Amino acid sequence: MSTTIPRNQWYVAAYGSEIGNELFARTICDEPILFWRTAQGAVVAHSDRCVHRRFPLSQAPSRLVDDKVVCGYHGFTYGPDGRCVAVPGQTKVPRTARLAPYPVVEVDSLIWVWIGDPALADETRIPRASYLDAPGWTTVRGMEPLAARFSLLVDNLLDLSHETYLHGGYIGTPEVASTPITTEVDDDAGVVYVSRHMDDAECPPFYRESTGLQGRIARWQDIEYTPPCLYKLHSRIAPVGSVPDPDGSDPDAFHVEVVYAITPETEHSTHDFWMVARDFALDDQRVSDFLAENNRTVVLQDVEALDVLERVIASEPAGYQELSINIDTGGLAARRMLARMAGEAPRNAPAAPAR
Ligand code: FES
Ligand SMILES: [Fe+2]
Repeated sequence: MSTTIPRNQWYVAAYGSEIGNELFARTICDEPILFWRTAQGAVVAHSDRCVHRRFPLSQAPSRLVDDKVVCGYHGFTYGPDGRCVAVPGQTKVPRTARLAPYPVVEVDSLIWVWIGDPALADETRIPRASYLDAPGWTTVRGMEPLAARFSLLVDNLLDLSHETYLHGGYIGTPEVASTPITTEVDDDAGVVYVSRHMDDAECPPFYRESTGLQGRIARWQDIEYTPPCLYKLHSRIAPVGSVPDPDGSDPDAFHVEVVYAITPETEHSTHDFWMVARDFALDDQRVSDFLAENNRTVVLQDVEALDVLERVIASEPAGYQELSINIDTGGLAARRMLARMAGEAPRNAPAAPAR
């Protein structure tokens, strides 16, 4: 069960909207990181520890002055590249006085940071979710702190049968738990797919209120998880009997892209970023407010359950044997990929569900 945090990976550190021309700190994978946006609009990320006596540069009275970070303890001053440009009491700045830089990329409204060896950072490996920042889509979002290890959130999101029980009255209906899933693993691309197509299902309040559809629906859930961080649920809601046209267009359906960025804060806590993008009612503030409030409620139901699980796991001796069944196939595949990324397990280690 225990998965340590994979390094040499991209993680979502923040929403672009969170980073302005001021100091912003967040711990990612146990590393305290300082973020800020230059006057030119570029996001920079460095260690949040002054090289002198470790004072956190995010901590007042440290401050940002004209695109330079001034340490609030003795005044070491750093430029956007992390190099120290001034120290007190002498004109010569030690050559090694430089904050450790983090590769950082802003794309799709997300701030991605590379955790690991900066020389290995490859931007082309960042998984994309372009609808979060594209015309034709409207997105609501939030982030909830989770006092549980990130792998518990991965388990949770890969097995949506829990919607029926944990989220009844919001997004859960009987059909979610009763409809079998199909799972596919693309080891080369590093993606786990889990699909559940409900062709005649009750419409939960989450979709009834937002789409206005009455009666029963076709509800498709297609999960695409790119470990370790980005989880996308392609949700298709349509009248019963409606299917996409052969050319891929799908005019009768409502599409909702539910995206999570699963970012470890520490070994036992997680930043639970959630986003809901839709391709309908784009300017309807009532729908935006409803989806934001409803999804946050659903996320907090998961947070409450996972916080309990973390305490249970922390308080019991090692060696508890879980029992897995068919619904866990996607979660088990994700665990194998994460373990491999963390260097714990060989490729294709067996982990079959009990039948
Ligand atoms: S700790 Fe930052 S200048 Fe001394
Ligand atoms: Fe959930």
